[in-house]
Amino acid sequence: MNLLAGKRILLGVTGGIAAYKSAELIRRLQDQGADVHVAMTNAATEFITPLTLQALSGHPVHLDLLDTETESVMGHIELARWADLILIAPASANFIARLAQGHGDDLLSTICLAAQCQVAVAPAMNQGMWANQATQLNVSALIAQQITIFGPSEGLQACGEVGEGRLLDIAGIVDLTAATFPNERLRGRKVVITAGPTREAIDPVRYISNHSSGKQGYALAEAAIEAGAEVILISGPTSLTPPERARLIPVTSAREMHTAAMQEATDADIFIGVAAVADFRPIEASDQKIKKDNTGERLTLTLEENPDIIAAVAGLNDGPYTVGFAAETSHVIDHARRKLTRKKLNMIIANDVMDQNIGFNSDQNETTIIWGSQEQTLPIASKRTIATKIVGTIADALPEARQ
Ligand SMILES: Cc1cc2nc3c(=O)[nH]c(=O)nc-3n(C[C@H](O)[C@H](O)[C@H](O)COP(=O)(O)O)c2cc1C
Repeated sequence: MNLLAGKRILLGVTGGIAAYKSAELIRRLQDQGADVHVAMTNAATEFITPLTLQALSGHPVHLDLLDTETESVMGHIELARWADLILIAPASANFIARLAQGHGDDLLSTICLAAQCQVAVAPAMNQGMWANQATQLNVSALIAQQITIFGPSEGLQACGEVGEGRLLDIAGIVDLTAATFPNERLRGRKVVITAGPTREAIDPVRYISNHSSGKQGYALAEAAIEAGAEVILISGPTSLTPPERARLIPVTSAREMHTAAMQEATDADIFIGVAAVADFRPIEASDQKIKKDNTGERLTLTLEENPDIIAAVAGLNDGPYTVGFAAETSHVIDHARRKLTRKKLNMIIANDVMDQNIGFNSDQNETTIIWGSQEQTLPIASKRTIATKIVGTIADALPEARQ
């Protein structure tokens, strides 16, 4: 499980001997799927070079508050807005004092002042510095500001003394970091979503397709991201902007979608097939534009079946929890239930595409979720609201199915 999939963490490094451990911390946060930017205090750069942390994080390290060039690239306010969590590790006694007082006299303290997200602090210092009443009062002030404190731990210190003040071990910091995102019901889950229509080429300029807009699939991708999942969005051609944190795999034909889906589904926890995949494709696409010669002659297209993507995913050994969509024009629930059984899906979402107010191009939808012997109708609502409810229902159903 990637406990921090898609999470944006601004790692603040301050001037203490444990600053070298921030290099390992970046790697372990990345292992859990986090995107890590680093901001360092001046003192921190005396203990570990920005170059090292830049190479490990894969981003330029943020150092200066009053530098017009860096401010114009990603300034302190943008960094504060970008982060889902600001983690100061190691946090020096001096930095803790400045944070407690609300100072904004360097880049890192100013980012913390501007932040709307959670700030967490992992202190690291000599045991005497930690035990000092001033430090303890400052830590109490941080707790009063809803700032989370990770550690410190006890043991032998760099100065040769033994006591409380050591930086918490890196695995512990990573676990606590993940635990700051508690309400994310799909945290650590890989969710693969197919969305939009497919296009089946007739010739280089023409294709067979359908009216799917991709809106419901994209809304589901957003809802799954919000629930903490790592989201892979396999999308046919749409005019929509994909959610920033989804990994987008653009495809055109059903066969391309099938290949991408089978690759991604093998280690996925959940697969949601929302795409309106063309059931048939022309047996052969002409490599030249087909011309008409005004003789009234008929053109016959011979079609063959496309692979059934959702059935193939549902048939995988130890495959993901598989959710299908049934866009029906009559006997909606009956047809959807049959599809659920026939394709061996875990859940199906039925909707009536004959209703112009919902379905394909609309921003609204009205659906019935069917799984096992259960059924839940979601009254007409925005596709985003429907998506959040579907994701919630999947999260409820998942433990029974996967554990
Ligand atoms: C060799 C050396 C090691 C230090 N280690 C620590 C430390 O582990 N924790 C700490 O709070 N301060 C430590 N300090 C003191 C800080 O570097 C100093 O307070 C500095 O001003 C912190 O700046 P900053 O909070 O802006 O990063 C150390 C100083 C030196 C010279």
